[in-house]
Amino acid sequence: MKKFFKYFFIVLGVVLILAGGAGLYIHFTGIPKYEVHKIDYKVEATPARLERGKKLVSMLCVGCHFNETTNGLTGKRMADLPPAFGTVYSRNITKDPTFGIGKWSDADIVYLLRTGLKPDGQYVPPYMVKLPHISDEDMASIITFIRSDDPLVQPQAIQDTDCKPTFLVKFLSRVAFKPFDYPTQPIATPLVTDRVAYGKYLVNDVLKCYECHSADFKTNNAFEPVKSEGYMAGDNELLDISGKKIYTPNLTTDPGTNISKWSEQQFVRTIKEGFRPDNSPLRYPMERLPELTDEEAGAIYAYLKTVPAIKKDRRPAENIVTTAGMNAGQQVYHKYMCYTCHGEAGAGVCDLRKAGQKYPADSSLIAWIKNPSKIVPGTKMPNWEGVIGEDEYQPLAQYVRALGEQARLGGDATKASMTAPH
Ligand code: HEC
Ligand code: HEC
Ligand code: HEC
Repeated sequence: MKKFFKYFFIVLGVVLILAGGAGLYIHFTGIPKYEVHKIDYKVEATPARLERGKKLVSMLCVGCHFNETTNGLTGKRMADLPPAFGTVYSRNITKDPTFGIGKWSDADIVYLLRTGLKPDGQYVPPYMVKLPHISDEDMASIITFIRSDDPLVQPQAIQDTDCKPTFLVKFLSRVAFKPFDYPTQPIATPLVTDRVAYGKYLVNDVLKCYECHSADFKTNNAFEPVKSEGYMAGDNELLDISGKKIYTPNLTTDPGTNISKWSEQQFVRTIKEGFRPDNSPLRYPMERLPELTDEEAGAIYAYLKTVPAIKKDRRPAENIVTTAGMNAGQQVYHKYMCYTCHGEAGAGVCDLRKAGQKYPADSSLIAWIKNPSKIVPGTKMPNWEGVIGEDEYQPLAQYVRALGEQARLGGDATKASMTAPH
């Protein structure tokens, strides 16, 4: 979800036109505030809402607010933000009344999520998600969960770090980004049995697949997603974990796409498990969505089958690595593209360099790699059992250890020779 940052980057050019007094004004006044309209809003918590909310929060909020150290939604540094935007931290949204959002009312939370405005009127730039079109019921579920006794939101006295947005972000928050209006009409959830409508709802209003899978963040239409340029035809240029370019694939009904050749079952496995039918993993920043039911993922498939064809060929990603000259473990690490999430040196989505110590026995390290979901339910790390060959795990485990060992010795892990560290 942190990729939202990258959206700004693309608009960088605009800043160059800026000069003089207006610049100073923006610099000192910062991100603008707006008037907040008072609304009546109170959620009634039900077990069904709690369950649905857990799943929605896991797909929509955890990626940015979860902190590995505190094991709760206490916020963290958004590390893959291009430096042009400054340093951005998500916030502590646990129920702590002082450090978290324990004192916010349901109305305060819904207002922020719908419009982008905090209770004091402060606008939050697009580095925080907005959900102007999600249904009332799904919104109520999210809020039920945020207010629940779940360990993720248990009060934790962790102090927020204020964001230091750059001039660029402040500037764009005046000319390009605007808060959404609070909805005036009820928003119903489509029936999941109405597959095309439900799939469309997930793609456009909840999971926002269109944002990455249409032509360009600049030309996306947040009010009417289907009017975005090149809607769902891909070719949007994104950055992977190491800053290399990767382009989104075409998901329209054009016969040249991968998905036009997939059955519904294959599509469902791809987006839930993170492996295409040929077992190639989906690369970062495309995240698998194990939270979806087969019914929901199938509804997305049904909807995509109705999206008008746009012909657009796929450009290859920059992060293809030749494995010639690598040792056995390093080759496995690259063959299965572990580096697309964990980076070449093991410092990517999580710190792989500590894994060797955390799992001192090869058997436990290999057990993690095979089935991480058994240990961390809902993790974005795919389950490799049945994909990686049995004889490949041993060298792979050694390579993961070598990454940690080399980091401790201050060497370059990617050039490590494959002498087992223990
Ligand atoms: C793309 C990353 C991202 C996602 C996804 C995201 N947030 Fe945030 N959130 C942020 C950042 C960054 C801030 C800090 C913004 C600021 O203070 O200017 C923030 C701020 C907040 C705040 C304000 C807290 C305060 O004390 O001011 C709340 C509440 C919040 N988020 C709730 C949520 C919920 C609920 C979800 C899921 C529906 C969510 N966020 C998803 C990045 C994200
Ligand atoms: C953060 C941006 C982003 C979002 C959001 C996103 N995707 Fe992707 N998606 C990508 C990228 C990048 C790839 C290419 C990954 C690769 O090449 O390994 C991809 C690949 C795919 C593929 C594989 C297609 C092929 O031709 O191989 C499918 C299917 C897919 N996405 C579906 C979805 C669906 C459905 C959603 C919404 C639930 C979604 N994506 C949301 C970025 C995104
Ligand atoms: C789609 C992204 C992704 C890919 C691809 C991926 N991982 Fe992971 N991996 C993760 C995430 C996320 C975590 C953090 C686990 C969690 O959710 O707590 C993780 C955690 C781990 C850990 C445990 C680290 C710890 O300290 O607990 C190991 C070991 C690991 N990965 C090895 C691998 C190997 C080997 C590969 C390639 C075969 C690989 N991963 C591919 C996302 C990925």
